[in-house]
Amino acid sequence: MCGIAGYIGARSAQEVVLDGLRRLEYRGYDSAGLVLHKNGKLHLEKYAGRLSVLEGHIHKNGLGAAHLGVGHTRWATHGAPTDKNAHPHMGCGGKFAVVHNGIIENYAKLRGELRSRGHEFYSETDTEVIPHLLEEAYEGDLGAAVAKVAKRLQGAYAIAVVAEDDPHTLVAYRQYSPLIIGLGEGENFLASDIPALLPYTRRTVVLEDGDLAILTTEGVRFFNDGEQVEKKILHVTWDEVAAEKGGFSHFMLKEIHEQPRALRDTISPRIIAGRTNLATEIGLTKEVASSIRRVVVVACGTAYHAGLVGKNLIEQMARLSVEVDIASEFRYREPVLDPEDLVIIISQSGETADTLAALREAKRQKCRVVAITNVVGSSVARESEHVLYTMAGPEIAVASTKAYTTQLAAVTLIAIELGLARGTLSSAKAEQLLSDLLQIPALVEEVLLQSDYIRDVALCLAQSESVFFIGRGLDYSVALEGALKLKEISYIHAEAYAAGELKHGTLALITPNTPVVCLFTQTHLQEKMVSNVEVVRARGAKTFVLSNCHPQVTASLHDMEIRLPAIDPLLAPIVAVVPMQLIAFFAAVARGADVDKPRNLAKSVTVE
Ligand code: M6R
Repeated sequence: MCGIAGYIGARSAQEVVLDGLRRLEYRGYDSAGLVLHKNGKLHLEKYAGRLSVLEGHIHKNGLGAAHLGVGHTRWATHGAPTDKNAHPHMGCGGKFAVVHNGIIENYAKLRGELRSRGHEFYSETDTEVIPHLLEEAYEGDLGAAVAKVAKRLQGAYAIAVVAEDDPHTLVAYRQYSPLIIGLGEGENFLASDIPALLPYTRRTVVLEDGDLAILTTEGVRFFNDGEQVEKKILHVTWDEVAAEKGGFSHFMLKEIHEQPRALRDTISPRIIAGRTNLATEIGLTKEVASSIRRVVVVACGTAYHAGLVGKNLIEQMARLSVEVDIASEFRYREPVLDPEDLVIIISQSGETADTLAALREAKRQKCRVVAITNVVGSSVARESEHVLYTMAGPEIAVASTKAYTTQLAAVTLIAIELGLARGTLSSAKAEQLLSDLLQIPALVEEVLLQSDYIRDVALCLAQSESVFFIGRGLDYSVALEGALKLKEISYIHAEAYAAGELKHGTLALITPNTPVVCLFTQTHLQEKMVSNVEVVRARGAKTFVLSNCHPQVTASLHDMEIRLPAIDPLLAPIVAVVPMQLIAFFAAVARGADVDKPRNLAKSVTVE
């Protein structure tokens, strides 16, 4: 989604802002622009396309040194990705420049009003109402003007503003969309996400809804609802190298290979002397666990798929009924919740608009909420009473990989804790699962060692128009994630099916040579699965088996087979997804796709 980077200080604002935008490229965007305050004037450059297009124009036009600037990468919502619709926007007089993430919901009404008062619009964006409103609100104090304008705006947004009349001030305002201030010595920064700040400062302030920040070289003042407020300084521990490619060709490949480390960091600190410590970490005490009547998991995309695995595990281990909901559906169907429900919110970024709305709905209905997120200081983390952090480190590629496997580890730990506390999981079984969980990072390493063979499998699929993924039980939940990965980065149509469901319609699509990826990690379901695979092979399908069952089980069932290490079926999803991530990666590379920044997608979906 859109990115914002801003700077005021002695360095070259152009360089800091462009560098910041580059570090936010992973969020996905289709146009880019920046404004610099130089020699008493605002200088604007904005173009459709990648940052390199903007950089080319800047170098050609020789903008030169300036010490105040703000830039933006846009992911189109209102109006096509064109030069005109790119940010910053400047209104009629060119006296203000505004960059904006999010959506102004009442922009059509505001636009009508502004037009009737003589304002002329240049773009099709919702954003452009802001500089026009500023033209009317400004009386010599930029902070006051932004505060006044913010009162007129509805929706979720984060904005940064500079004014031609005020070369010493950069103003930012947040309403539901993330915005972070970076504190320096004699210089200050702002950005919509932490990686843009990492080379310059670790001292950050996360703006809350309704916060206005006024940045000068002397410092940053914060206001909320007209009152000056003190903000907590958050020290970011992510290191800069972690947000770089580190010798890998793509962030996605690097992040796939980081999974053993990410899993170790997520699992090990939570297992002490053969027991989980979630009672202390997220308040899942025996009393709480026994008072829970139902679990509701809400998330989007890959995080939703982690929720599906969680459902299976919690139902099996804790004998609690679990519902899993897509956040964008949940929020508008007046969900029936009860204070005795445990609501688990899963979000890597902690900023997904729909997931955040679901969290707020659960709190409104007084449920106990536990959030699983990867980002300290994110909106989900700040608004949840209990947070279980995945320790994946920054995930830059749009396709989620290490965030997913660490989310699986987190839901597994919760299921074990709930099962133990409720007396539905024996201590012996819990101990065995925890001990096996500690082995998972090494098993993922084993799978990664097979990368060359997995690439061969991917090359067989890479030119297909359509690929099917089938499995039963937990394998079906993982198949959904495998299909999503392939779709989002290679653009091959992919569908996941519960293997037993194919015969109810979809089997009609299986024709000679249709590739079908078949998962075999659920030992108790393997015989059923064998029959399902026979059925697709009888229709001429090419089958690619992922299995840790005895080799004889699948010997006559595959065109190619990736062998997975032996593991308890309850933990198998964390290992089984890894070859599917690699298949998607290698297929996408073979098709020449932009793996880390797939078309039309954004890393953090902060609009509905
Ligand atoms: O940051 P979140 O976990 O809330 O994001 C949810 C989805 O947008 C995300 O998982 C998306 O599906 C990924 N691109 C999948 O790889």
